[in-house]
Amino acid sequence: MNAANDSLDFAQRLAVRAAAVESTLDSILSEHLADGEINRPERLLSAMRHGVLNGGKRLRPFLVIESAALFDANPDTALRIAAALQGVHCYTLIHDDLPSMDDDDLRRGQPTVHRAFDEAHAILAGDSLLTLAFDVIADPATALDPAVKIELVRLLARASGIGGMAGGQALDLQAETSPPDEAGIIRLQAMKTGALIRFACEAGAVVGGASLSDRERLAEYGSAIGLSFQIADDLLDLTADSKAMGKRTGKDAARGKGTLPALHGEAWARHQLKGLIAQAEDLLRPFGEKAQVLKDAARFIAGRSN
Ligand code: IPE
Ligand code: IPE
Ligand code: MG
Ligand code: MG
Ligand code: MG
Repeated sequence: MNAANDSLDFAQRLAVRAAAVESTLDSILSEHLADGEINRPERLLSAMRHGVLNGGKRLRPFLVIESAALFDANPDTALRIAAALQGVHCYTLIHDDLPSMDDDDLRRGQPTVHRAFDEAHAILAGDSLLTLAFDVIADPATALDPAVKIELVRLLARASGIGGMAGGQALDLQAETSPPDEAGIIRLQAMKTGALIRFACEAGAVVGGASLSDRERLAEYGSAIGLSFQIADDLLDLTADSKAMGKRTGKDAARGKGTLPALHGEAWARHQLKGLIAQAEDLLRPFGEKAQVLKDAARFIAGRSN
């Protein structure tokens, strides 16, 4: 997959990877329906498909695939880990949109899962996508040494749970009523958004059998672009329209969310984004030309328009 795609520009490369992730997720979900041994409720499966196969940038799976390629990992194995992570990401969005959280009706230009189905199915679809990720990692079809699988399970569980995404979401909700300072916002963003993006990059290195120091370097790169990702999201919430984003905008200010653009303004946030691109590029320097696509990813994330 990698050699044939070397001449693609960044946008094309993202699109090619997105299509591969989409068809992998589609076939994983179809296999689940086809398994006659377990009774799988069709409405729940439809809610899962609505939440996971309805587009998005597929940036986290892209980062898994490209970080793995940096270490010449088996591309098919990397793709399965990438698909598993996209399942987790989509679960976070389904739950983030629930009435008890951000209460949003639109996601990727379509009704959110609780609007298209109902709240109970949105909760259960999220639960099922999270557990599906661990199922995919552990599955014999994911060709990895068992010790590597256990390491990936541990890293993904840590990134998703109370010390990562779920904990960050709790802090994000608390911040609506007791606004944090700059350090507090950075901490909550590193958890709610940064942890899964950091996982994406570190997981690629783990799948590729990278040395501990290279693995740490990729994880640090993931943290830098993870912060950049959320600052860009918060800026877009302030400045972009809902049609371009496929989701409601202007909602952070309305709910009193603790964001860095709200605290320090747009110009400061844009300056921070530049610094984070430079930090990401510095971290990748030892890998030379081979890391160009990950450098491009850092620029894409900071400069994205949706
Ligand atoms: C949105 O994530 C949630 C945040 C962490 C800000 P994305 O912007 O990656 O959402 P999709 O998957 O592309 O729709
Ligand atoms: C969501 O952040 C982060 C996670 C889903 C963990 P936001 O609440 O800012 O994401 P959007 O703006 O709804 O996509
Ligand atoms: Mg939120
Ligand atoms: Mg939200
Ligand atoms: Mg947002």
